[in-house]
Amino acid sequence: MNPLEIELGPMESFPQFPAEVILEDIPYWLVRTTEGEYRLLLAICPHAGGEIRPLNDVLFCPLHFWTFNSENGVCLNDPDEKLMQRKVELRENLLYAVGHNH
Ligand code: FES
Repeated sequence: MNPLEIELGPMESFPQFPAEVILEDIPYWLVRTTEGEYRLLLAICPHAGGEIRPLNDVLFCPLHFWTFNSENGVCLNDPDEKLMQRKVELRENLLYAVGHNH
């Protein structure tokens, strides 16, 4: 197996998105895009480290109220900012985090 892969579990263990996932002690939201792709969005705000959480159909930081697109992590207040993220692949019904945050 690729050393940069971490198994997240079977698809059925994530009945709802965004789903909270802790990977290597770091919190993420696992999201599913309208195209059916999965990705992990880092649950730490790029502004000043607030805890990102879902709010209606966006992701939200309670510290200074930035909001983020819940599919691609782009900041809706400042499109030059986005949540760090990690690629996710689906193989034989299992989800894997692949590579590093980018
Ligand atoms: S730390 Fe998230 S908006 Fe400031």
